[in-house]
Amino acid sequence: MEANNLATSFSAEIEGLIAKHVAHAQSLLDTVADPVARCPPALRQFFGRTQETDAIVSALSGEGSGRITVLGGPGVGKTTLAVAALHDPRVVEKFGSRRFFVSCDSEELGCFATTAMAFGIAAADPKLAQFRLRDLLGRQPSLVVLDNFEAVWEAADRRPDAEDTLRFFGSMENLSLLVTLRGAERPNGVSWSRPFPPPLAPLNDAAARQTFLSIADVEDNVLGQLLKPLDGVPLAIVLMASLAQYESPQTLLTRWSYLQTSMLVRGLGSSRQTSLDISIQLSIQSPRMVAFPAAQTLLSVLALLPFGIVDTDLRLLELNQSARALSVLSQNSLVTYRSSGRIRVLAPIQAFVTVHYPPDEDTMLPVYNHYFSLPALTHSSMGFVKMIPLVAPELEVVDDEFSELLIDAVRLPLQGWNMNSMLAIAHLRRAATAQRRGQRDLALHRAQNALRYFGDYREPVRIRRAKKIIEECSDM
Ligand SMILES: Nc1ncnc2c1ncn2[C@@H]1O[C@H](COP(=O)(O)OP(=O)(O)OP(=O)(O)O)[C@@H](O)[C@H]1O
Ligand SMILES: [Mg+2]
Repeated sequence: MEANNLATSFSAEIEGLIAKHVAHAQSLLDTVADPVARCPPALRQFFGRTQETDAIVSALSGEGSGRITVLGGPGVGKTTLAVAALHDPRVVEKFGSRRFFVSCDSEELGCFATTAMAFGIAAADPKLAQFRLRDLLGRQPSLVVLDNFEAVWEAADRRPDAEDTLRFFGSMENLSLLVTLRGAERPNGVSWSRPFPPPLAPLNDAAARQTFLSIADVEDNVLGQLLKPLDGVPLAIVLMASLAQYESPQTLLTRWSYLQTSMLVRGLGSSRQTSLDISIQLSIQSPRMVAFPAAQTLLSVLALLPFGIVDTDLRLLELNQSARALSVLSQNSLVTYRSSGRIRVLAPIQAFVTVHYPPDEDTMLPVYNHYFSLPALTHSSMGFVKMIPLVAPELEVVDDEFSELLIDAVRLPLQGWNMNSMLAIAHLRRAATAQRRGQRDLALHRAQNALRYFGDYREPVRIRRAKKIIEECSDM
């Protein structure tokens, strides 16, 4: 009897406590306004991306909940694609007003605090915040976009919080997730829906043209020239088109030739959305890149090769830890892979890196040697004419002088000469030309280079010739 009484009073006490807790939670919920993570308005301009949108919308609007990542490089259109998917009629039909958009740009707050704040929930008491988020998002089918997720996930010390947050969201059966982030790596914490979408590619030619022409009117024949260095990167296209509203295409092309990516700004140009340089720099200075400096060195070399390089040739460039460096560049979507097996840096990133992160000479020496070895190797087996198309992409190198030297070297008789000697002879030829034209400084510089490359190669006549040019040009 006594035991019964005890049990009854104990359970009454527990019930009282629960009621008190619920009332407290409810009172806190009541003080909160509607969730603020409201979905951005529908896009006015959105071109191409039919397949990509379809894949995302099918995963989100199907049975159960979809968990999708939109990956890709700087300014390639990840956020825009997510917003387009949010407004697709099939997504609207399934989620109605329960479509939420959280920007994860916060530099100070961790992932959980950022998302909770976006819903107007203080994260000081994480358990209570989780309770309220679950209450808000877990009861009916809801969709949350976590945009620019790399900001709260990329740094190693922020990653556990970011992945715990994903785990928490992933534990709500009714909740679908669409996460956009720079790079090519999906975070842990959620079982992502299959098939995994590949990183977002640049816009195709038609979509690039439509995007540009939706902002500025430009004659068709110059439009191609303006778009070429932008390589289908939407951010670059939008910024160039904004300038084309009030500057002539000729002025823009001239400015591009010396200002390159730094001219692509809008308004104050102080954010990743309004300055191409800031956008690209963010990826180059990202925690994963900074933690592995060899990746930046590799990027600086790859940026000199407009046609990229076949991945199996990479080791021939003798760069420090190139395999791992390439993997870091891929992680950050700073390189793209072509079906031909070539690894390439997109043109706007090439332009930025060539100006701001040029490789040093020690890095370039083995690179030059590799390229000079190509003519020699192919010449011996195939003959000059057949060899040209084969190595043509390799001959296209941004560094003009190097490119010319390489073409010169191709024309040299090659029997028995090593790469350095070919390079030396090519330099010597150019030194002689410069001297004939009266360009003494250039001649001096090239003759000095020739001597450096001759090294111990026994070619006394040519070495004497190089020394003579140096003597004659130094006297002046
Ligand atoms: N398919 C498209 N059609 C038209 N404009 C586009 C398209 N995709 C992107 N844009 C425009 O390109 C710019 C950059 O797009 P967005 O911000 O979506 O890139 P992002 O990949 O999210 O960039 P970040 O890497 O900085 O997060 C925006 O001005 C956007 O309007
Ligand atoms: Mg974005």
